[in-house]
Amino acid sequence: MKRVDDFRLKFGKQELVPIIIGGMGVDISTAELALEAARLGGIGHLSDAMMEDVSDRRFDTSFVKEKTKQYKYNINNSDKTDIKFDLGRLAEATKNHVGKTMEAKRGDGMIFVNCMEKLTMNGPRETLKVRLASSLDAGIDGITLSAGLHFGSFGLMEDHPRFRDAKLGIIVSSVRALQIFLRKNAKLNRLPDYIVVEGPLAGGHLGFGLDWAKYDLQTIIAEIALYLKTENLDIPLIAAGGIFTGSDAVSFLENGAAAVQVATRFTVTNECGLPEDVKQEYFKATESNIEVNTISPTGYPMRMLTNTPAIGSGIRPGCESYGYLLDGNGGCAYITSYNREVAAHPDEKNIVVMDKTCLCTHMRNFKCWTCGHYTYRLKDTTRQLPDGSYQLLTAEHVFRDYQFSVDHQIALPA
Ligand SMILES: Cc1cc2nc3c(=O)[nH]c(=O)nc-3n(C[C@H](O)[C@H](O)[C@H](O)COP(=O)(O)O)c2cc1C
Repeated sequence: MKRVDDFRLKFGKQELVPIIIGGMGVDISTAELALEAARLGGIGHLSDAMMEDVSDRRFDTSFVKEKTKQYKYNINNSDKTDIKFDLGRLAEATKNHVGKTMEAKRGDGMIFVNCMEKLTMNGPRETLKVRLASSLDAGIDGITLSAGLHFGSFGLMEDHPRFRDAKLGIIVSSVRALQIFLRKNAKLNRLPDYIVVEGPLAGGHLGFGLDWAKYDLQTIIAEIALYLKTENLDIPLIAAGGIFTGSDAVSFLENGAAAVQVATRFTVTNECGLPEDVKQEYFKATESNIEVNTISPTGYPMRMLTNTPAIGSGIRPGCESYGYLLDGNGGCAYITSYNREVAAHPDEKNIVVMDKTCLCTHMRNFKCWTCGHYTYRLKDTTRQLPDGSYQLLTAEHVFRDYQFSVDHQIALPA
């Protein structure tokens, strides 16, 4: 009976334990979590979502305060076109977070940054270019392009000296998305170094509609593998979404995946950035407490706990401080919904907005509890303590459990 440890992910001469901890924004996949994955010989991800806020919290900078001060005059204005990111500050924040993490890296593994391209920041091209370049400047081992898969991102990095040496990968959920990406980038003569194939059971935003349950990860991987074969392309495929045990991982590794990307099981580790009380909510969740809804202003369905505080919250849009989801024209679907409700209830102090949420503010405050489909199984991965709470795990424990377990067993903590 095989274990994950019988396999290796190969990047040229470098061999890694084929376990990747997926990016979880905003700072849910912390530097500490990524560093553990790298120390243990796998790959960890930082998220580049809301870097300025992350830098403020981790390094005592004051980017958010400065931005809020600059745009304070606009707080009660429903038009957010004025709000722009200072590219110098954005670069500095990214370099702080990525650079300090890379300095602290130990072990044979790697650290990548998950770049959510749906964070269009009221200036999609220029902000994305700075984010990508700053991560490369700060020495990141690789970049995974996610949510919103911007077909032009490789082109934005083309002139960077590390364009051909850093590992660059993409997340797709269908063979069609991959085909479009490869076609649009053909002239760059630079293929992705890996392709994360994310199925419908993943956490965060989904690359599927509300009919996600009709799809199945093994089938999508088989379609993509076949397509690559017919095109004579040899690119490692990384399976992601709903891989809960080492044996689940082995079944993908035996069927052509080069590695697995996992996240949900790490949400209840000490190193994960969620506050402790939120981790307990993840442990307590039952299957009926997990839903896929459309409240994210990105337009992508998102999976979350049904008791997520962000659902129905009608807070004032926080774009003067954040504004990461503003499209190139100062718009965001939440602003539209919020303005509609304010107009409909002019005397109401507490506005309720059901169809969209202010994702920046709520993710920043850990009030949007996005999670993977199997979150309801987390309670089976630990022990319940006498006070009824669940024991948090270490990232090392969960990583090693994936690496060495057989027979779908899950090792409980000591
Ligand atoms: C709490 C949470 C937040 C996530 N945030 C992101 C994100 O910001 N960007 C992204 O590309 N994927 C995100 N994901 C998806 C993961 O990186 C990963 O691919 C997926 O969840 C793996 O499936 P699993 O959670 O069933 O192991 C998130 C997942 C979770 C659980």
